[in-house]
Amino acid sequence: MTDAAIEAIDLTRRFGDRTAVDTLNLLVEPGTVHALLGPSGSGKTTIVRMLATLLRPTAGTARVLGADVVRDADLVRRRIGLIGQDSAVDPRMTGVENLRMIARLGGLSRTETRRAIDDLPARFGLADAAHRLVSTWSGGMRRRLDIACAVVASPAVLFLDEPTTGLDPRNRRAVHDHVRGLVAGGTAVLLTTQYLDEAARLADAVTIVDRGVVVATGAPDAVVRRAHGCLDVELVDAAEPDGLEEVIAALGGRRALPAPGATEADTGSGVGAGAAGGSVADRITFEIPADLLLVEVVRALDRAGIVVRDLDRRRPTLDDAFLAATERTAP
Ligand SMILES: Nc1ncnc2c1ncn2[C@@H]1O[C@H](COP(=O)(O)OP(=O)(O)OP(=O)(O)O)[C@@H](O)[C@H]1O
Ligand SMILES: [Mg+2]
Repeated sequence: MTDAAIEAIDLTRRFGDRTAVDTLNLLVEPGTVHALLGPSGSGKTTIVRMLATLLRPTAGTARVLGADVVRDADLVRRRIGLIGQDSAVDPRMTGVENLRMIARLGGLSRTETRRAIDDLPARFGLADAAHRLVSTWSGGMRRRLDIACAVVASPAVLFLDEPTTGLDPRNRRAVHDHVRGLVAGGTAVLLTTQYLDEAARLADAVTIVDRGVVVATGAPDAVVRRAHGCLDVELVDAAEPDGLEEVIAALGGRRALPAPGATEADTGSGVGAGAAGGSVADRITFEIPADLLLVEVVRALDRAGIVVRDLDRRRPTLDDAFLAATERTAP
């Protein structure tokens, strides 16, 4: 037994001979947001569906609020909220009717239901449409209703599979605020998203999966710190000074691989436009340890007698961590 909101142990799902999720271990504490990140097809939705009892694991176990997702599936289902990747609202009912049905299915009494759905449409910008058939709503409105439905019964565990895809910035923010409110009240959230800024802003912990395997996990700051930083070295002329690469290597850095899709076309257009000084050719990018200070680079270059025009160092972001951890699947 455990106090964790969600706990997966060696959770595995195979489809035929393809392993979509491979011995996943995951721990989500109550009152926290855990972001599940990964490239398309890496197994995020499959993980969510297993934890939400919609898909049987091939191997391994998972518990939600202490209840086994296979043996105690009914119990789990009553205590979770889920926003799937695809909309689940019924277009033949109005917004309010959808909310009422979900609240009643979630075990709320009539009075509790009335109280719970009272201000929800307004909070998600749906007040004007609340009594119209959902079939007449836009995609973004349906998405917001999905989210309102998932939170109407104040579940202790909430699964959000790309909840804000297709929402405009104002509505994304409304969703973020609502999630924060639920989490402050003790709800545990497992969130998948393609917006890494959303994960960075909301998550207490992140897990990055690639081809069904966990490739990084921990607090967002820690995951980012483990990624490399970037150093752009601007040369005095096109010729690379002798020993530059060795100096950077001695500091723990290495020459960065060109970003996919940012090579020939970019350089070509630069040359075609007659870029003065050939800025692309005169600049070399290195991957460096995330905590390496620029002053250390300057001193080392000085000692080696290497002159450069400029140095630009940027701290890694969650984007860098994501790209570094999942570079095996880059096209
Ligand atoms: N019902 C299924 N039958 C067969 N293969 C499946 C099924 N569901 C998922 N898969 C496969 O499992 C892998 C993981 O899919 P999944 O939907 O979990 O990825 P994802 O990380 O959610 O991707 P996205 O970011 O595009 O939503 C994919 O290779 C997918 O083709
Ligand atoms: Mg998915």
